[in-house]
Amino acid sequence: MLKFARHRRLRRDATIRRMVRETVLSVDDLIIPLFVVEGENVKREVPSMPGVYQLSLDAFTRELREIEQLGIPAVMLFGIPEHKDACGSEAYADDGIVQQAIRLAKEAVPTLHVMADTCLCEYTDHGHCGVIEGNDVANDESLELLVKTAVSQARAGADSIAPSNMMDGFVAAIRAGLDDAGFEKVPLVSYAVKYASSFYGPFRDAADSTPQFGDRKTYQMDPANAREALREAHADIAQGADMLIVKPALSYMDIIRRVREACDLPLLAYNVSGEYAMVKAAAQNGWIDEQKIVLEMLTSMKRAGADLILTYHAKDAACWLRERE
Ligand code: PBG
Repeated sequence: MLKFARHRRLRRDATIRRMVRETVLSVDDLIIPLFVVEGENVKREVPSMPGVYQLSLDAFTRELREIEQLGIPAVMLFGIPEHKDACGSEAYADDGIVQQAIRLAKEAVPTLHVMADTCLCEYTDHGHCGVIEGNDVANDESLELLVKTAVSQARAGADSIAPSNMMDGFVAAIRAGLDDAGFEKVPLVSYAVKYASSFYGPFRDAADSTPQFGDRKTYQMDPANAREALREAHADIAQGADMLIVKPALSYMDIIRRVREACDLPLLAYNVSGEYAMVKAAAQNGWIDEQKIVLEMLTSMKRAGADLILTYHAKDAACWLRERE
């Protein structure tokens, strides 16, 4: 009698597959990024991101209600101001577009968790994530502005602060700034591991934040590096981060796994704009089954070790997960 393992015994029907399934994707895992702009009745689709819109505050409020109805627990807010300048002053204006959006969100849908992305690139006229000195972004001068930004977001009512700027020491600086301003209860969700990735292309259309010169390689990480991700993650934990983000997700599953194994904090994967755009383009051509591909990708991110996923597919995924029940 030939002896070998019969793995197919546990795959025989949908019920047993359901019973032995190791990873379950839930609507609780999803966070949806949103782009808020000035003006009225604006709902402008981002050309490279079908189904993603720049929203003025009125349209934004309607969107939040839909998101809550779908059971998605959290949003990540990006503000795109009308007026940009060299030091991104709209990022830390108390009546800035994102501060208005945060206030409105907490009024309209109080149970929705509002994360504020803390960066300057949507607010600077040169499109970099800090202030410029010579040909580069000045680290410590930028930190001061980022602290002001985070504090103004917390003052507006943000439930958590998510700095994505990749300056050295941003977690320590922002944590201290929040604590000094009385916001010691507001969690800091650090974009600890953020690569200088070409997968952000469509986002920069959406946020109008393409660098006007150079690139982000002196502050974002080299895609070839993995050990460095652990140094970034450990440093942010030591400085007081409450959660960690790895970004992008799809090409960085090994990094998600390594950070998961090295650290105990809740881990978020950012399924970024370029990953979204590729799926949408292929789906529009009828080359892939969008629903199946998206659910497979999101499940894989969880399997790799992510607890939560930031994704532009969140609304669709929430609908599909509901239908599957
Ligand atoms: C801001 C920021 C970026 C993204 C999130 N926060 C852009 C960048 O670093 O250029 C990208 C998100 C995406 O591509 O979906 N620094």
